[in-house]
Amino acid sequence: MAAHLRDDDRPLPSWTTRCVNCHASTSKAPAFAPPLTHDALLGATSRRGGPISHYDATAFCRAVKDGIDPASVLLRKSMPRYQIADAECMALWRYVVRQ
Ligand code: HEC
Repeated sequence: MAAHLRDDDRPLPSWTTRCVNCHASTSKAPAFAPPLTHDALLGATSRRGGPISHYDATAFCRAVKDGIDPASVLLRKSMPRYQIADAECMALWRYVVRQ
């Protein structure tokens, strides 16, 4: 899946863009990025100091494509921006939250 970093239109090498590279912790180090789980995404909570929010499919795809969270807070530059079709992103959402 093609992706790039904000303010940089060069495509990232494909081995860098797998979600699990950043969104999973190892026993030694804390995770680099928040968990992509049903509870973490659907739970109402304050993210990045913004107002309380939760994800739905539309908000998830906006984060993945445009790097904006459900409270309209910009994600860090280290979360890639993905070029992904709506149907594929919906499938990814269903996979991530197992709905
Ligand atoms: C290079 C590392 C990296 C990769 C690869 C990556 N992410 Fe992220 N992602 C991040 C970081 C870092 C954040 C936290 C950004 C912040 O807090 O501003 C993040 C945040 C998110 C969020 C917001 C989570 C929240 O709790 O608000 C979602 C959703 C997300 N990523 C989905 C994905 C998906 C889906 C993929 C694969 C298609 C992916 N990410 C791949 C680094 C990455």
